[in-house]
Amino acid sequence: MDLKELIRDIPDFPKPGIVFRDITTLLNDSKGFQYTINLLTDECRKSSLSPDYVIGMESRGFIFGAPLAYQLNSGFIPVRKPGKLPRPVYKVQYDLEYGVDTLEIHQDALQSFHNVVIVDDLLATGGTAEATVELLKKIGCNVLGFAFIIELEALKGREKLPNVPIISLVKY
Ligand code: PRP
Ligand code: ADE
Repeated sequence: MDLKELIRDIPDFPKPGIVFRDITTLLNDSKGFQYTINLLTDECRKSSLSPDYVIGMESRGFIFGAPLAYQLNSGFIPVRKPGKLPRPVYKVQYDLEYGVDTLEIHQDALQSFHNVVIVDDLLATGGTAEATVELLKKIGCNVLGFAFIIELEALKGREKLPNVPIISLVKY
């Protein structure tokens, strides 16, 4: 199955000059969604990624991270935008193209001896994934690797990430 055929390209969204890679059409396709999760699972197994937890970033990271965690027999931990988590959090500010944003994780979600895999739909500049690594450093846990559906190679996001396996299923 060619996943690129299920991903819709939307020019000039959300801003002029950006080609938005829209995964809603992939999610809409039951066989395509199932294939994507199975492929992501196989790639994690091939890279020997057996985490205690899958970490998914709000919001599109939840869509792929939760079923991957289920397949890998791992727990799932959400990394959220500010003000959403009810108990004490660690937080990290990170740069967007314009301005800054914040990500948060529950302080008691996991401990330093845990192994994790970080999952999101798309790796662009790497700012979101890098901020998630910074959050996990506050806990001291071990990042085994990363798994993305889409990688925008020209933006060199992987250069911001630590030297561990970085899986991406579709490259542009
Ligand atoms: C998108 C995408 C990644 C991030 C990638 O999320 O889902 O999380 O951008 O970009 P980066 O590598 O340059 O950081 P967005 O912030 O648009 O939020 P959403 O998932 O809620 O749509
Ligand atoms: N997040 C960051 N860049 C993106 C893009 N080009 N398409 C979809 N999501 C994105």
